[in-house]
Amino acid sequence: MLIQWYPGHMTKAKRAMKEDMKLVDLVIELTDARVPQSGRNPDIDELAKNKARVILLNKSDLADEKANREWIASFQKQGILAVAADARQRGFRKQMMEAIMAACKEKIERDRRRGIMNRPIRAMVVGIPNVGKSTFINSFAGKVSAKTGNKPGVTRGNQWIRIDDRLELLDTPGILWPKFEDQTVGLHLAMIGSISDDILPIEELAFELLKWMAEYYPDRLKERYDLDPEVEAMERMDFIAKKRGCLKKGGEPDYEKAARQILDDYRSGRLGRISLERVQ
Ligand code: G4P
Repeated sequence: MLIQWYPGHMTKAKRAMKEDMKLVDLVIELTDARVPQSGRNPDIDELAKNKARVILLNKSDLADEKANREWIASFQKQGILAVAADARQRGFRKQMMEAIMAACKEKIERDRRRGIMNRPIRAMVVGIPNVGKSTFINSFAGKVSAKTGNKPGVTRGNQWIRIDDRLELLDTPGILWPKFEDQTVGLHLAMIGSISDDILPIEELAFELLKWMAEYYPDRLKERYDLDPEVEAMERMDFIAKKRGCLKKGGEPDYEKAARQILDDYRSGRLGRISLERVQ
């Protein structure tokens, strides 16, 4: 579900987030493994101040494995444990639980010193729309329990889902707003299909994607489109349009159609696992 972000949406989401933060010990922040930077909102550092934190690099099945490892290391260097996952599968559960326990170690020890035993950690899931919050909650809890809906400010039930004796999750995920101040954020979120395509002309999105791929993943372009690295940047769309038979009535290349195919190939994983952001 794609929604436009207006200041009103943002204010509502922020208010809801602040309220929910009061209820939890831990914040599980989801970002998209293909664009770990653009998929986050740095305001979370302020909002989740004094909370334990874990980052989930979701949709890691669509991202480059080497890049995933580099991002995990980079977040850990910043003091935040990170786990890569495909939220649709349940394989991440054990690793996630270990990361959560490690992130909450101090709190667990503090509780123990005060004689509080076995009080479950309370956690909430946060992330921008479409990052996989509901999918994650459902997989983690092992049942269809998460409320869906990306509209900030929907009625919030604040039900707790018991994961096990040690952990409870707030059933409604917190919605973070994309931070569009940097132009790359909009570009990258549009490329992965998380925000409306009309942020930029579709041809420009595909052009930028091809440019990135020519630099980092030239073999995939060769495999899928038979595109040689020698083809000039300006000629790539033309080449692919002709190769794929994206032509207008008079035989002219249909760039828009070609661009849609390229983006669709990327988003569905047909171009392989491709990360659009690398650790610098
Ligand atoms: P949200 O609550 O954060 O808004 O996201 P949601 O769980 O609704 O997930 C958004 C889309 O992303 C869904 O696809 C979901 O299946 C997909 N998704 C979630 N996690 C992963 C993942 O780790 N890997 C991949 N490849 N996809 C993931 P959809 O197109 O909206 O629906 P559908 O394809 O499931 O029918």
